[in-house]
Amino acid sequence: MTNLPKTPKWAALTEHATEQKNTTLAARFKADDQRFEKFQLNAAGWFLDFSKNHISDETVVKLAELAEAQNVSAKFNAMFEGDVVNPTEGRAALHSALRYQGSDAIKVDGDDVMPGIRSVLDRMAAFANRVRDGEWLGFSGKRITDVVNVGIGGSDLGPLMATEALKPFTHEALNLHFVSNVDGSHMVSTLKKVNPETTLFIVASKTFTTIETLTNATTAKDWFLESKAGEQDVAKHFVALSTNAEKVAAFGIDTNNMFEFWDWVGGRYSLWSAIGMPLMLAIGPDGFTRFLEGAAAMDEHAKNAPVRENMPVTLALLTVWYSNFFGATSHLIAPYDQYLHRFPAYLQQLTMESNGKSVHVDGSSVSVSTGPVVWGEPGTNGQHAYFQLLHQGTHLIPADFILAAESCNPCGNHHELLIANCLAQTEALMQGKSTEDVVEEMRSAGVPNDKIESLKTHRTFAGNRPTNTLLTQRLDAYTLGSLIALYEHKVFAEAAIWDINPFDQWGVELGKQLATTIYNDMQDAVKDGKSVTSHDSSTNGLINRINASRSRLA
Ligand code: F6P
Repeated sequence: MTNLPKTPKWAALTEHATEQKNTTLAARFKADDQRFEKFQLNAAGWFLDFSKNHISDETVVKLAELAEAQNVSAKFNAMFEGDVVNPTEGRAALHSALRYQGSDAIKVDGDDVMPGIRSVLDRMAAFANRVRDGEWLGFSGKRITDVVNVGIGGSDLGPLMATEALKPFTHEALNLHFVSNVDGSHMVSTLKKVNPETTLFIVASKTFTTIETLTNATTAKDWFLESKAGEQDVAKHFVALSTNAEKVAAFGIDTNNMFEFWDWVGGRYSLWSAIGMPLMLAIGPDGFTRFLEGAAAMDEHAKNAPVRENMPVTLALLTVWYSNFFGATSHLIAPYDQYLHRFPAYLQQLTMESNGKSVHVDGSSVSVSTGPVVWGEPGTNGQHAYFQLLHQGTHLIPADFILAAESCNPCGNHHELLIANCLAQTEALMQGKSTEDVVEEMRSAGVPNDKIESLKTHRTFAGNRPTNTLLTQRLDAYTLGSLIALYEHKVFAEAAIWDINPFDQWGVELGKQLATTIYNDMQDAVKDGKSVTSHDSSTNGLINRINASRSRLA
């Protein structure tokens, strides 16, 4: 049983945090003009400035000691080597093998997984090239113009986020669509935009049992068969990405049209596998290779860099620092890049499905808080929405600002303004503005004294809000790959410190079970003309009210 607060390194950090709270970020910068040089790291095309944090030289040493005491490096090695790091599901977590660029064997249960990975990548590339070159034809002999990915969770968020992020590099004649929600409006509104003769459906599901995906895929197939197409044409318009050949065949997709992956690829870590097909279609096999290379470069860094030079471990330690010693409960992701607009949503699954856990690996209860709530929107939009709370609210919300020096769409002074806004926010969050400065500023602007008195506290900024800035030259396939891998390893390092399993997701099961029960109860009640009484009074009441209003409608 792990009792983190009782461990010497944790106890030392608790004491150290009390001291560190006595100083401000602004004072730290005033006292040390080497702060920026001291607290920065480089890895795989990304530069991290973490100087605007509540840390001293001693903090970095003490946090690194915690990582060492929690065996973070050894746990990384175990993951990269294919050990069973997901004990509750009895699996390895080898997403790093999917992007491995070396020639060594990587073994799971004694078998080298690399030949299988390369063979699927080759098949994916051959298929993607045929679609992109207009050689893969629909049932009426026309080229494919639209691709609809049908999946949810890890089978949707990753490919959707990445194809959005890499829009400037995508094939001009292919439109990518993503349908995930079981809300029929998602599929219906998408089908209105496409033509059955020129549309390819990708049914993406690791298990091929996910109710949302199977329902959406069935609706898509019915729609397709309602056109001039017949059953014999399904093979030209439906492919599957899955680990489950049996279920794929049962659904009616030819397994020759299936691109496989393996149970040691977690859903939220599967973008590098066949699940990346929409991305490969969009940016081409060469672009996809660059994407894998970027991630592989971050893997090498995560594996080899000592703790204090290790970017994902440093980010993880900062999250632990704020979550466990400063009481922070959420973490903001602010990409100053419109193409990264789905990145916070992607990171929500990656982080919260991984580290939203209350028990340690051995099943005992945790005694400290674990994964924070992750949220965000791209800048500068967020500045005109929730930034007020960041600057003057009562919550401590550590934030990651993500920025590229170069724009993919240079245009007037847009990018310079974007950069200036990003840097201004981190400076303002750190420095704040004292009441004295507010008074001085208002006085020099000729504001009358009574107005100054009534407004001065409203216009004061306490500052002292910590941020990280992640900077790259340009967002492209390589740097996107390394950015995603950076966060994957950050999440892993946090889990290693908290001694929790980041690779299972039992917390999603109860809702799935109950949805099936409620679905059946609702149908039965309508059929029998009875009320539902088997749940709590709130759930019964809601079911019966909905059934009554739907029957009135009918
Ligand atoms: O939400 C639970 C979950 O199992 C995720 O982990 C996964 O990414 C998603 O459902 C979709 O699962 P599948 O790819 O098997 O359809």
